[in-house]
Amino acid sequence: MKGLLLAAVVASLCITSTAEAAIPLAIGHRGASGTRPEHTFASYDRAIELGADYIEQDLQLTSDGVLVVMHDTTLNRTARGDAANCTGPVDQHTLAQIKTCSAGSWFGAEYANEKIPTLEEVFQRYGKSVNYYIETKAPDSADHMEERLLALLDKYGLREPAVSEWQVLIQSFSAASLQKVHAIDPRLPLIQLGNPTIAQMPDVASYSVGVGPSFGGINGDWVAAAHAQCLQVHPYTVNNVADMQKLLGYGVDGMFTNFLDRLTPLLGKEKANGKQGAKEAASFHDTCISGT
Ligand code: G3P
Ligand code: CA
Repeated sequence: MKGLLLAAVVASLCITSTAEAAIPLAIGHRGASGTRPEHTFASYDRAIELGADYIEQDLQLTSDGVLVVMHDTTLNRTARGDAANCTGPVDQHTLAQIKTCSAGSWFGAEYANEKIPTLEEVFQRYGKSVNYYIETKAPDSADHMEERLLALLDKYGLREPAVSEWQVLIQSFSAASLQKVHAIDPRLPLIQLGNPTIAQMPDVASYSVGVGPSFGGINGDWVAAAHAQCLQVHPYTVNNVADMQKLLGYGVDGMFTNFLDRLTPLLGKEKANGKQGAKEAASFHDTCISGT
């Protein structure tokens, strides 16, 4: 009970401090990866249950050209099974090999049946019922990761909702990758990961709608400078309540967390409800751009 009261007080303080911003987005980092094996359906399902406004996907490419959802470039940390199939670089294994591996047993025996999803399987499972925050991870231009991603958005009818409602945000540390997407379709909402200097922000804003900084490297002035360029600010990866409170006080527009069960109570009853949060963020950004 005491905990609930504290959360309510904190929530009211936080919402007051960000009254001029859109309602902050709760981004499920690799799903609900604090309590489920990252980038599995178990993790995404739990993130959605916990009120995620977005579920995050990191992309890797198999040797036969399939986009799979995995953070690391190798299978070693989060895949278990036959060593020939389940260790070493993702891009040196076929999808058939990778599908023999467990994506959950490293985390807990109860998740042994979890498999590494393809991005297509993620879209098939959740369709247009959720928002996706998709990272092109270490893309080599020869792999055509961006074109493959856009082809899947088209196949599942997600490109236009990405444009109009931010149902999909595309993020990357690679400016080249984002600029490639921007060149193909400049309407798509992009998030530049990393911590640009304030002087670099106008350039970032020329192709991005937001920035995803490492949370320890920012402060209120940095957030204000990003907002002055109409860049939304979604820091990663924020897992303790004190850091969440501090960042909300800076006026961030959302954050990545492994622990949505800690963030959503802070946002309180005014928290955006699923897809609505993304729509509001898109609208907030459009209003900002039209006022500059
Ligand atoms: O995409 C935001 C955050 O996830 C970036 O770091 O290494 O967890 O992908 P990483
Ligand atoms: Ca990521």
